[in-house]
Amino acid sequence: MSANKPVAVALIGAGRIGTSHAEIVANRLTNATLAAVADPAPGAAARLADRLACPLAYTDVDEMLANPDIEAVIIASPARFHTNLAVAAAQAGKAVFCEKPMALTLEDADRAIAAAREAGVPLQVGFNRRWDQAFAEGHAAIAAGKIGTPQLLRSLTRDPGPFSADPARIPPWTIFFETLIHDFDTLLWLNAGATPVEVYAVADALVRPDAKSSGHLDTAVVTIRFDNGAIAVAEANFSALYGYDIRGEVFGSAGMVTMGDVRRSSMRLFDQHGVSSDTWRLDTDSFIDAYTAEFAAFMEAVRRGSVAGPSGEDARAALEIALACIKSVEEKRPVSLAEIRSN
Ligand SMILES: NC(=O)c1ccc[n+]([C@@H]2O[C@H](COP(=O)([O-])OP(=O)(O)OC[C@H]3O[C@@H](n4cnc5c(N)ncnc54)[C@H](O)[C@@H]3O)[C@@H](O)[C@H]2O)c1
Repeated sequence: MSANKPVAVALIGAGRIGTSHAEIVANRLTNATLAAVADPAPGAAARLADRLACPLAYTDVDEMLANPDIEAVIIASPARFHTNLAVAAAQAGKAVFCEKPMALTLEDADRAIAAAREAGVPLQVGFNRRWDQAFAEGHAAIAAGKIGTPQLLRSLTRDPGPFSADPARIPPWTIFFETLIHDFDTLLWLNAGATPVEVYAVADALVRPDAKSSGHLDTAVVTIRFDNGAIAVAEANFSALYGYDIRGEVFGSAGMVTMGDVRRSSMRLFDQHGVSSDTWRLDTDSFIDAYTAEFAAFMEAVRRGSVAGPSGEDARAALEIALACIKSVEEKRPVSLAEIRSN
């Protein structure tokens, strides 16, 4: 395979984020072509493929994986299918980009990692904040020692409101498995080389208190202690009425970096009400350059044969914290990561 030939990539799961990912591959990447879309929902793959001039659409994912012309897949199905799809794709010899969470159990995380290793294919996970310019520059500043030794870290996710989803359709523990998993990866990445040792999580249904009795959680705060002494806080809420608000902060012995801005741009409107700014409303807008960069890097990894971005092992490390959070909420106590690792 020519090193310069665009990677033939298939999308698995043509839902909200899969549609955005497919548009990025089709319209913004020069090192990949959208070769197929697969989705079991009748018509979903065909509609998206047709709109993006993609030649192949499948309702049967296995049939797509049997196509030898497909070199790589982007998995954007619901989370509970990720591990089996990643394993099947790796076993079919495809390079794997898997949306987060790669797995919901450590056993499944190990299965995905092993399948990619045995097949000799790259496995990259969708922790897109690492590719955002502000977060990447913050990471570089920390790595260059500009803030000294990290002491306090903070990462937050506030999804745009008003919250309109049906809580009954949201899988249990989504706030940890699918929302805060981004923050856990961000904190691990920014506090590079340190290992988390203890987690304490508090979670509630402050947006939809009526759904609390059925297990719905939409608000959480997590503290994480690391073995280098640093203490981190991660927090999430499903309904920020002012927009999609993603921020990070690392305070150290010699300074601080802050990352993320809910404002869309540096434009300010000055009028009779004062000064105002428009805000980000969608992840697919605010992170479009980060998603583009993560896919461009993945395609390079496919050609090079090794991943430079977030790996299966990184997904497993973030999952350990999510699992500790769940135990902490269930048992209302701090949970040692050793408990999670030994189970
Ligand atoms: N990295 C990010 O910023 C980001 C943002 C949003 C969502 N996500 C993740 O992406 C995943 C998808 O989220 P979404 O909001 O697009 O969901 P969605 O429900 O909108 O779309 C899921 C799609 O997968 C299809 N599907 C269902 N079962 C399937 C299977 N077995 N095989 C293949 N396809 C299947 C569905 O028909 C649907 O079209 C979730 O894991 C979510 O956490 C990541």
